Order: sequence, then structure tokens, then C-alpha cells
Amino acid sequence: MIVIRKADGNDIKSVYELEKKCFKDPYPEIVLRMLYELYPELFLVAEDSETKAIIGYVSGMIRVDGFGHIVSICVDQNYRRRGIGKRLMEAIENVMHKIFSVCMFRLEVRVSNIPAIKLYESLGYRVEAILKNYYLDGEDGYLMTKKLC
Ligand SMILES: CC(C)(COP(=O)(O)OP(=O)(O)OC[C@H]1O[C@@H](n2cnc3c(N)ncnc32)[C@H](O)[C@@H]1OP(=O)(O)O)[C@@H](O)C(=O)NCCC(=O)NCCS
Repeated sequence: MIVIRKADGNDIKSVYELEKKCFKDPYPEIVLRMLYELYPELFLVAEDSETKAIIGYVSGMIRVDGFGHIVSICVDQNYRRRGIGKRLMEAIENVMHKIFSVCMFRLEVRVSNIPAIKLYESLGYRVEAILKNYYLDGEDGYLMTKKLC
């Protein structure tokens, strides 16, 4: 069984190991820790209840313009297409809405990242703008947004 729960400080190392497997330009561990310390309620992990391994995470923040911003999400390759990414997204949106009264969500994604784009579209996100040369390697990004209320 996969449990979605709030991260604790001891999870950040495992999240960093996962982050390195998921992204070619991973966030440094110190940035992950900073995100966790800024918004601990918005740093969620997916844990395999049998092995206790952290196999997914999502983190977010609340912007000054009121948008809930999904900063990062990833799921271990061996656990993909089982609905865990969707559960993580729904869980963080729920916390943003219930605790921070957020009605609008936003995120950025590489234009080539079809799995992520499909996930976000399935949750109601739509492309709002193209962000030219947004990533370090020059790839464009999409700004995607979702209005809840
Ligand atoms: C994007 C990511 C988090 C999705 O996680 P996941 O647990 O596999 O996603 P889910 O199983 O919840 O998928 C939910 C829906 O998203 C869509 N989707 C997910 N992966 C997909 C893929 N490879 N191809 C097409 N659609 C996909 C489908 O609509 C899927 O529903 P379905 O399985 O019923 O068809 C995962 O692929 C990942 O960690 N990628 C690497 C990190 C990354 O790119 N993060 C996003 C950065 S912006």
C-alpha cells in the first residue's frame, strides 16, 4: 500500500535521492530542505508502507499573488502509472485549498514532458503561456494553471 503523508525532516535525504533519479537538473538537497522549512504542510511524500521507502513527493508554496504553486513532483520509475502522481497532486491542492484558502494553482513544465503534461491536464490544468528558454538547457516551458473556485 502507498501512503501519502506530510514529510518530516528525516525524509529530505530520501527525497533528494529520488529527485536525482527523476530529473537531469535536480534541486540541490539544501533547496529541498528550504522548501520543506518554508511550507512544511506543502511538502508531501508517498511512502511504500511495506518497505517504508519514499517513492514519490510533491512540494509547493503560496505565492504573493495568491496562487498555489506546485514547485516539484516526482514518482519513482518503478511505481509510475499507478495513480500516485495524481494522488500527490490532489493531496497538495487539497491542503492549499483547506489551509491556505487557495483557489488558483500554477506550475511550470517542460514542453517535452508528455507524462507530466497529461497528468496535469487530467486534473484540469490548462496551458496559459509558453515560457521561452525557461530551462537551463534552453528548452521552453509551459505555464499551466487551474482555477478551482
Ligand atoms: C509526471 C509523473 C509525476 C506522473 O506520475 P505517475 O504516478 O506515473 O502518474 P499517475 O499514475 O498518477 O497518472 C495519472 C494520469 O496522468 C497521465 N499520465 C501519467 N503518465 C503518463 C504517460 N507516461 N503517458 C501518458 N499519460 C500519462 C494519464 O492520464 C494518467 O492516468 P491513467 O494512468 O489512468 O491513464 C511521473 O511520470 C514522474 O515522476 N516523472 C518524472 C518527474 C517529472 O517529470 N515531474 C514533473 C515535472 S513538471
